[in-house]
Amino acid sequence: MKVAVRYYTKTGNTRRLAEAVAEAVGAKALPISTPVTEPVDVLFLGNSYYAFSIDPEVRDFVRSLDKSKVGRIVNFGSAAMLNSTYKKVKAEADRVGIPMDEREFHCKGEFKGIHKGRPNEEDLQAAAEFARNIIK
Ligand SMILES: Cc1cc2nc3c(=O)[nH]c(=O)nc-3n(C[C@H](O)[C@H](O)[C@H](O)COP(=O)(O)O)c2cc1C
Repeated sequence: MKVAVRYYTKTGNTRRLAEAVAEAVGAKALPISTPVTEPVDVLFLGNSYYAFSIDPEVRDFVRSLDKSKVGRIVNFGSAAMLNSTYKKVKAEADRVGIPMDEREFHCKGEFKGIHKGRPNEEDLQAAAEFARNIIK
């Protein structure tokens, strides 16, 4: 199975999750500024909530994906208060005709002193376990 990992981060939390996911699936964690050029079965996409939405860069990244090159998107990330960006990412994936896996990984993410240290070691291990299950 061919797998790629992309992430967007403002304060480093999603990068740490992406590195755990990438290591678990034998891929590289790369920022969304790196386009997906080779065909992949699974694209793990790490992203988060900022002011109640996904960042416009994440939206534009999903819109730029070529559906003939991406089998499905697997969402992962963290947020301070909201549950998950799944619906927002899916809305963009639907526009370009790329299926979203119904499974996703989500945990709390530190923000201004709330949820200090999250994602923590336990979160990173859970993200890795989640990713291994996706590709098995
Ligand atoms: C500018 C900014 C705006 C945020 N807005 C929200 C929000 O609306 N809802 C929420 O649940 N978390 C919000 N957060 C918290 C982030 O989702 C959380 O800290 C996440 O772990 C950040 O991931 P990152 O470090 O990869 O950017 C915000 C964080 C930042 C920096």
